[in-house]
Amino acid sequence: MEKIVRFSSTISPKLLEQFDKILEERGYANRSEGIRDLVRNFLVESEWEEEDGEAVGSLTLLYDHDVRGVSDKLVELQHSHHANILSSMHVHLDQHNCLEVLVIRGQTKEIKKITDALIAARGVKHGKLVMTSSGKELE
Ligand code: NI
Repeated sequence: MEKIVRFSSTISPKLLEQFDKILEERGYANRSEGIRDLVRNFLVESEWEEEDGEAVGSLTLLYDHDVRGVSDKLVELQHSHHANILSSMHVHLDQHNCLEVLVIRGQTKEIKKITDALIAARGVKHGKLVMTSSGKELE
């Protein structure tokens, strides 16, 4: 197991009180775990700022399959980026609406480009990319 270091920090009592309140509401066992999550989020955000950084994201798409050509367009886009799209899940929500979740790995700029093209397709009602990390840098 990797060695853990202890550090101290200064913060205003009010800020700490607000932080502790949220930690309690979210069920954190202790303050250290909350701070570790904040640091990891900060690192993931930094990774995504580097255009050639390697990252992983999950894209959720909601679309109306009755819109002419939308299904073909989304499949075509996914096939042309098959090396980046690791997995996809399709759910038929009702008679018209489809939900798709794609896991995409690659350089952040590639992931953003693929995501933008999919969200911009006619018939897509909503799309949201959750940016995460390959995990290697978050030990
Ligand atoms: Ni469907």
